[in-house]
Amino acid sequence: MRAAITGTGFWVPEQVITNQDLTRLMDTSDQWIVERSGIRERRWLRVGEDGRTELTGAEMGANAARMAMADAGITADDIDFVIYATVNPDIFFPGNGVFIEDLLELGTVGAMDIRNQCTGFVYGLAAAEGFIRSGTAQTILLIGGEIQSTALDVSNRGRDTAVLFGDGAGAAIVQGTEEDRGVIASVLHSQGRFARELWAEIPCGNVAGRYTPEMVEGGGNHPHMNGKMVFKHATRRFCEAIREVMKKGGVGPDDVALVIPHQANQRITDAVGQRMGFPPERVFSNIAKYGNTTAASIPIALAEAVREGRLKSGDLLVLVAFGSGFTWGANLLRW
Ligand code: UT7
Repeated sequence: MRAAITGTGFWVPEQVITNQDLTRLMDTSDQWIVERSGIRERRWLRVGEDGRTELTGAEMGANAARMAMADAGITADDIDFVIYATVNPDIFFPGNGVFIEDLLELGTVGAMDIRNQCTGFVYGLAAAEGFIRSGTAQTILLIGGEIQSTALDVSNRGRDTAVLFGDGAGAAIVQGTEEDRGVIASVLHSQGRFARELWAEIPCGNVAGRYTPEMVEGGGNHPHMNGKMVFKHATRRFCEAIREVMKKGGVGPDDVALVIPHQANQRITDAVGQRMGFPPERVFSNIAKYGNTTAASIPIALAEAVREGRLKSGDLLVLVAFGSGFTWGANLLRW
């Protein structure tokens, strides 16, 4: 039994925030953002007078899921498990997976969240494959979704991270199949000694009241990143993970039709393509439009790649990610 992606979908907010829009909030420029990251615009959910976003993260995920279900030609009755990858759950607990179960009326099927940041979808696909191979589930709804905009410090203090991140959700239907397609191999890694190099501290389970005034003053409710260090590690780990998953699957770079990297930075994507010998047309990029959407970035990119006709039946596909934790990993699939 193999685990194949049989449908994809995505949903992004209507509101486009251009680099020019950000110059009205902080000292930055379109040129700086484009040169350093390749990002031209991102989508942010609108926030109402009550301070709440127009949709919850789970509602975004449900929209992406409906598109993926239609693409796979299945209904809610076919889904027997939900995996929701996010670093930004709507509330501290329970996770977004159970809200999806309710929104899509999935009838008490199992639901779990994966907290693996930018690597969430890669971990989620590996987990989905395991559930399918073991017979625990047959048709899994795998979602990566993020509301980043509400966490960002859009003042000068937070400009190094605020310009990078966007909101959105992507979904995939992962199904058991006897055919020669689907996940061939996955590799998963973490290195917790670097957890503090990219993190958001609040809410903090080991602090009475979940935060201290000092933590708030220090901006602990916003993401913080040691950009240069993360950049260096990301470039190295992306390449290692691609090499490792190709080796595990017994294939070489020339066999791979498309690499979909987590959309962290166009300079990282370019460096990885060059080092690994993949020409630009075999490395997918949509960061210019959406920025970094963390766990949503790979499933959004996958859904777009499918709709652009970038994958045909039998193609070998590599998904690869690196992010906070540090965590990194890759999946090799036959489409
Ligand atoms: O998704 C998880 C993985 N994430 C990543 O892989 C992201 C990895 N890191 C990066 O992508 C890059 O490090 C950044 C895009 C975040 C930053 O690029 P950089 O080339 O490393 O720039 P820098 O942090 O060294 O900043 C250079 C300068 C600094 O000014 P000084 O100290 O040289 O005077 C910053 O203060 O740019 C300044 N700066 C900005 N200027 C205009 C920082 N943010 C901004 C900004 N606009 N938004």
